[in-house]
Amino acid sequence: MKKIKNICCIGAGYVGGPTMSVIALKCPEIKVNVVDLNSKRIAAWNDVNLKNLPIYEPGLAEIISEARDRNLFFSTNIDKAIIEADMIFIAVNTPTKNYGEGKGMAADLKYVELCARQIAKISTSDKIIVEKSTLPVRTAQTLQTILKSNSKEIKFEVLSNPEFLAEGTAVNDLLSPDRVLIGGNKCKSGQNAVKSLVDIYLKWLSPKQILTTNLWSSELSKLTANAFLAQRISSINSLSALCEVTEANIDEVANAIGLDNRIGSKFLKASVGFGGSCFQKDILNLVYLCRHFNLPEVANYWEQVIILNNYQKHRFAKKIINKLFNTVNDKKIVFLGWSFKKDTNDTRESASIYVAESLIEDGAEIHVYDPKVSGDKIKIDMRNIWELRGINEEIIIQKLKQIKFYDEPYKVVKNSHAIAILTEWDEFKNYDWSYIYKKMYKPAFLFDGRGILNIEKLKEIGFDVYSIGK
Ligand code: UDX
Ligand code: UDX
Repeated sequence: MKKIKNICCIGAGYVGGPTMSVIALKCPEIKVNVVDLNSKRIAAWNDVNLKNLPIYEPGLAEIISEARDRNLFFSTNIDKAIIEADMIFIAVNTPTKNYGEGKGMAADLKYVELCARQIAKISTSDKIIVEKSTLPVRTAQTLQTILKSNSKEIKFEVLSNPEFLAEGTAVNDLLSPDRVLIGGNKCKSGQNAVKSLVDIYLKWLSPKQILTTNLWSSELSKLTANAFLAQRISSINSLSALCEVTEANIDEVANAIGLDNRIGSKFLKASVGFGGSCFQKDILNLVYLCRHFNLPEVANYWEQVIILNNYQKHRFAKKIINKLFNTVNDKKIVFLGWSFKKDTNDTRESASIYVAESLIEDGAEIHVYDPKVSGDKIKIDMRNIWELRGINEEIIIQKLKQIKFYDEPYKVVKNSHAIAILTEWDEFKNYDWSYIYKKMYKPAFLFDGRGILNIEKLKEIGFDVYSIGK
């Protein structure tokens, strides 16, 4: 079995950055090089001011400050890091394909494939290649083929080690995961590679927390875990609509069913819809795979999770328009929160983007405050969605004028017609809502898309409140 002394991780994103930071922290004897094509991102990882790290994760800055420049290094020199490494993690992005075969459904494996080709081309010693990015089942076979056909003497062993961390709790999830999953080939060299990776995790975890399987089970488990999690949210969100017309209360229903320990209480919070870089992408990928293997009933079953999520986002926007007397034209709607969940600055697939799109279509002005997301990021998100829809540049520029950003919550609410909670940031719960009420036009509408506010209190203040599933 090979003892790992040098690790390279290609991709310094939300997965690669925190994961390698924790490995470096717990394995000071291993040199960890995190590399990325994006020089701006690498510069931010190397910034002396830890407030400028490219991603916000509670507890991450402290780890970076301890491990960086000791045995953790961030660089754009991908080739050098590959050559030095005994083990290479691939943590590049695998977005939904937006062109050609499988457009809008399949995972785009372009970057993963490029990594494999580069590794094969420049490596001068044997290496273990670890899939960290979420990939369709059987991708390891593609990697093995590329690696084998491009290098004569060198041996590569491919492992699957999917990351289950959730953003906002990444550090904690990495330090004490429910399980670490490692898939490898059943042959001797495959099992030796698995042991080398297990050894790294054993530096801070117990053997009970580490699960080993064959490659394909590991790849498929990651897609399955995300599909099951997203399915729970779509299930509870579907019932939130039923609660609203029957006077049942979705929080009470969730609590009642969650106490059954076969169901469990987690991931039953009704919301404006799930977002994030993984759920939608991974389910679309699963649906595409099922269709590819001629399993249309299975594909349709999982696709419904996405259809319901789109319905939930649209339903929230429609509710705002309906309550505001069937039009939001020229009205000022405040969004509290833009990120896809609290405690992260990540906005990928955030429900806020889609709700804003619908309201802007109806002529609203959207005024946003988010504790961690910048105005520039919000504009990029909206531009991306409009470009995806094929809207021309002139109209995009026009539409972008309908969205404004504030860095102070009490300023944003002034002279607004309605406030919508899009992210469950804790600070929103503690605002002076009586003061906010005074600053708004009347009737003052409040739409709680996250079910975090005390509706009765807000009604007493005078707000006209709508909360999902109530
Ligand atoms: C990504 C995938 O989205 C996810 O499916 C997977 O599970 C883990 O990796 P994330 O870390 O959130 O998740 O992605 P992102 O923050 O976009 O980071 C990927 C990084 O890879 C980017 O910084 C990008 O610049 C870099 N990259 C991409 C390369 O360095 N080389 C490439 O060829 C492509
Ligand atoms: C998810 C998985 O949890 C993680 O294991 C995987 O590695 C990556 O994908 P992440 O997307 O970071 O992690 O966040 P998660 O906490 O799962 O939330 C995803 C979305 O679901 C968020 O928009 C969140 O607000 C929403 N959500 C979550 C709900 O609407 N209700 C819930 O009860 C839980």
